[in-house]
Amino acid sequence: MKVDGKDFRSIWFNDDTGRVQIIDQRWLPHEFRIVDLTTRAAFATAIRDMWVRGAPLIGATAAYGVAVEMARDASDASLAETWEVLHETRPTAINLRWALNDMKALLTPLPVGERAAAALQRAHDIADEDVECNRMIGVHGLEIIKGIAAKKQPGEVVNILTHCNAGWLATVDWGTATSAMYHAHMAGVPVHIWVDETRPRNQGALLTAWEMNSHNIPHHLIVDNAGGHLMQHGQVDMVIVGTDRTTAHGDVCNKIGTYLKALAAQDNDVPFYVALPSPTIDWTVRDGVAEIPIEERDDSEITHVQGKLADGTIGQVQISPDGTPGGNPAFDVTPRRLVTGLITERGVCAASPEGLAAMFPERVLK
Ligand code: MRU
Repeated sequence: MKVDGKDFRSIWFNDDTGRVQIIDQRWLPHEFRIVDLTTRAAFATAIRDMWVRGAPLIGATAAYGVAVEMARDASDASLAETWEVLHETRPTAINLRWALNDMKALLTPLPVGERAAAALQRAHDIADEDVECNRMIGVHGLEIIKGIAAKKQPGEVVNILTHCNAGWLATVDWGTATSAMYHAHMAGVPVHIWVDETRPRNQGALLTAWEMNSHNIPHHLIVDNAGGHLMQHGQVDMVIVGTDRTTAHGDVCNKIGTYLKALAAQDNDVPFYVALPSPTIDWTVRDGVAEIPIEERDDSEITHVQGKLADGTIGQVQISPDGTPGGNPAFDVTPRRLVTGLITERGVCAASPEGLAAMFPERVLK
């Protein structure tokens, strides 16, 4: 998508320098910083400390991390260690394991001398495939938005609520939830987005709001607790969120707070859609609440808030009393019964074992 009129992806390979570059998302929306990732340790830090974040982007970053390490040492031992080092960075987003397993399966049978080039090419392909998946999610999501628009007065705005950042910054490009919004906006379907701020890290306030601003999509930033009230008053036509891991039975793990939005949506007959590329489906798990590991992050994310200070610098302020501990589960699971539909690159399906199996018949449930 565009930043100040220039096309960007969230991660790319600089052909001139031979280096992988990312947008360091810790500083948005106040500063747009690009950094090079040149070592396996740097890739691990960038994922763990959320310089990059969002399930699809974490996967693509890990793939490039393997490629960079293979250029240094392509031995079996290095490949195995790289899988471990990158895999332990964040536990919930399944795209990380998917990308690492994909790279390992490709590289293991190859002679050591061929691994570096093959790894780099596969990392490029994973990035490109993510872009195409997300573009198609937008094409299918647009049809749903058009369907809702068709039931309104001509020209009346479709109000969409979203949580966290499932935008182009969470993927390589387009985003998952936002792809439908971008496609609607480009097609001239009037949309307005309610952007949940998404405490504690405020990905909505910092990143989704920045994306909407950059692309002139009408939006309002709201506190996480406002969604239920807006739904009760008919001000939300649909919810679209992303996901970090969806089970083979259709349970949806996403940023903490998503479950409460789904409950409010059901109570108010508001359709609740989840947008996801197929690498976000974990075909090895069924019951999301019981089986998906939920990342517990540092409690400083709860006790402190980062923002632009009066002197223009970016800093943190403490908002809670000294000594009060924070509890910080980063994700929750929305049971499939609360999900209206899954928007995938192949089309929209029910959040159910049957719906997913019909959409991806080549996948055998384990
Ligand atoms: O902790 P993050 O910022 O990596 O979590 C990302 C999310 O939960 C997003 O909301 C998203 O829905 C999944 S990635 C498209």
